[in-house]
Amino acid sequence: MSIIDKVVSAVTPPESDEARAKARAKARSAAGPGDWLSLVLDHHVQIEAAFVKVKATSDPASRVKALRELGTLLTGHSIAEEAVLYPALAQADEKGHATTAYAEQSAAKLQMGLLENLPPMSQEFLDKLEHIEGAVAHHVYEEEGNWFLDLKSKLSAADQAKLTQRYAEQFSRYMGKDLKAA
Ligand SMILES: [Fe+2]
Repeated sequence: MSIIDKVVSAVTPPESDEARAKARAKARSAAGPGDWLSLVLDHHVQIEAAFVKVKATSDPASRVKALRELGTLLTGHSIAEEAVLYPALAQADEKGHATTAYAEQSAAKLQMGLLENLPPMSQEFLDKLEHIEGAVAHHVYEEEGNWFLDLKSKLSAADQAKLTQRYAEQFSRYMGKDLKAA
């Protein structure tokens, strides 16, 4: 299956809303104040809100602007994960999870690029946006429900602190502003 088909098939995440809420609550309780996991969870919430914002727009200019904000946030977050957290997963004997994580995020980047070229108020645009939203929701569930909990439990406090610093650095470099204001 190509990465295009893979993301298109993910319009509805296989897990229920309840399962996703449960995974998030568990990940929240595993996170420490201001640590990499809490930053990741905050960014996941911001990404979800950014999808809703795009869908709520009713004219082309606001939709294009909201899409740009979503794209920037998705890219900033994914780049920080790809540069810092997925290598840490691979190092913690979770190479399979790391490989899936990179593949899913590449597929989302590709689809976001294609989305930019569709007429913003068309049904085709909305369909693709919802496919991407579903694929991202599933990816987030995998991270929160499993992959990142493993990483949290496997690393020493010193390694966790390093991840926090590096994740924050990479994210704010892409976003070009203070992390908390992102
Ligand atoms: Fe993520």
